[in-house]
Amino acid sequence: MLTSCGTPVIGLGYIGLPTAAFIASKGIKVIGVDVNERYVEQINKGEVPFYEPDFEASLTGVVHKGLLVAQTETPHADAYIVAVPTPFNDDYSVDTKFIEAAAQQIARELKGGELVVLESTSPPGTTEKMAEFILQQRTDLTATDGRPNSVYFAHAPERVLPGRIMVEMAENDRVIGGLTPVGGEMARDLYATFSNGELLITDARTAELAKLTENSFRDVNIAFANELSIICDKLGIDVWELIELANHHPRVNILQPGPGVGGHCIAVDPWFIVAAAPEEARLIRWAREVNDSKPRYVIGKVLTKAAKFKAPVIAALGIAFKADIDDLRESPSLEIVRELAIELPAASIRVVEPNVASLPERLGGLANVQQQDLDTAIDAADIVLLLVDHSPFKRVDRGRLEEKVVIDMKGVWR
Ligand SMILES: NC(=O)c1ccc[n+]([C@@H]2O[C@H](COP(=O)([O-])OP(=O)(O)OC[C@H]3O[C@@H](n4cnc5c(N)ncnc54)[C@H](O)[C@@H]3O)[C@@H](O)[C@H]2O)c1
Repeated sequence: MLTSCGTPVIGLGYIGLPTAAFIASKGIKVIGVDVNERYVEQINKGEVPFYEPDFEASLTGVVHKGLLVAQTETPHADAYIVAVPTPFNDDYSVDTKFIEAAAQQIARELKGGELVVLESTSPPGTTEKMAEFILQQRTDLTATDGRPNSVYFAHAPERVLPGRIMVEMAENDRVIGGLTPVGGEMARDLYATFSNGELLITDARTAELAKLTENSFRDVNIAFANELSIICDKLGIDVWELIELANHHPRVNILQPGPGVGGHCIAVDPWFIVAAAPEEARLIRWAREVNDSKPRYVIGKVLTKAAKFKAPVIAALGIAFKADIDDLRESPSLEIVRELAIELPAASIRVVEPNVASLPERLGGLANVQQQDLDTAIDAADIVLLLVDHSPFKRVDRGRLEEKVVIDMKGVWR
């Protein structure tokens, strides 16, 4: 299965690069392919182009040993792993343009007998579409088990948690769905070379829906917590204590509320189910709407407090979508800061985000927003708005907050 010419991982982002480095750490030669030349250059120097704790040493190690090489060209190989983005369109259906581009690159190289695994999170039927797309380019090939000119396809969704990717890549169980039975077996053999987790074989459509189901389950649970937090605000009850107490029940496990739900998975994947079954996915849609409305609720809370000041200084702690990462995609905190800056032109907003070197474009052009270090921002602030539970924020001396208006959306300073 794995040849000396290397297994290409197509797409070297948050998922593809750790996957490539992880496979390479098992002594298997990996070719990382990305269209982003800057990424390719950085990776070949052993530099991680994004923040992932404890990852740089692993990457540097495999690059220096020559086990991982990054390039922009897709080579021929026996097995391909595709980890390109799967954003959604305006109607929440999946935009497959990155998958199609990767498929086109792979199609040119195929000879028959190869395996193509889609790792990107996708609605049911996407692996099949990728196969159709490849076979349209290559009418000399087929996706029928056992033929000499067959190409095999599978879906192996990724379930790792940003911030713990290197640990979870080794240990997590994996759902592997073959488009055909042989495709599933080949993918299982591939993943068995580097994964310690259980490899659970199914068909491609079930594997696709399994990943979406996992994230929708979490989204619905967080929506429940977010709704509880609003109810608790109204009733004057501490939602964090409430959830802690309720979770002592042996069969209750409520997740934590926050300023909304962000990231590239939980805030996106449920929509793929809604788009696939709009009439049926009522609870899943409603949970999305509850979570998407939470940032507006937070903005309302800040506006009420800010009305007491002529020109409030607001320290906004965290704009990443969750704790201890630098990923700003779909981040509710980022949108909250942006909206506050627009709605409070007289306010000065001091953004503290220890995991990014500079503010993103989305906050560019907003004259009343600047990035500051934690101590300076807290000292200057009238209002301290905690949006993300990054580790350094947990260590803030509570005494420094006594004279401030504190809005803690993560229950860090209870
Ligand atoms: N980030 C996560 O936590 C996470 C977790 C599980 C699953 N996923 C899924 O994994 C997939 C990838 O997500 P990500 O977070 O790694 O995305 P990302 O944006 O960080 O990385 C994707 C990479 O693919 C590259 N790319 C795009 N088109 C390409 C092409 N045609 N050929 C080669 N490279 C190409 C981009 O330049 C980029 O570097 C998505 O479907 C996502 O939903 C992400």
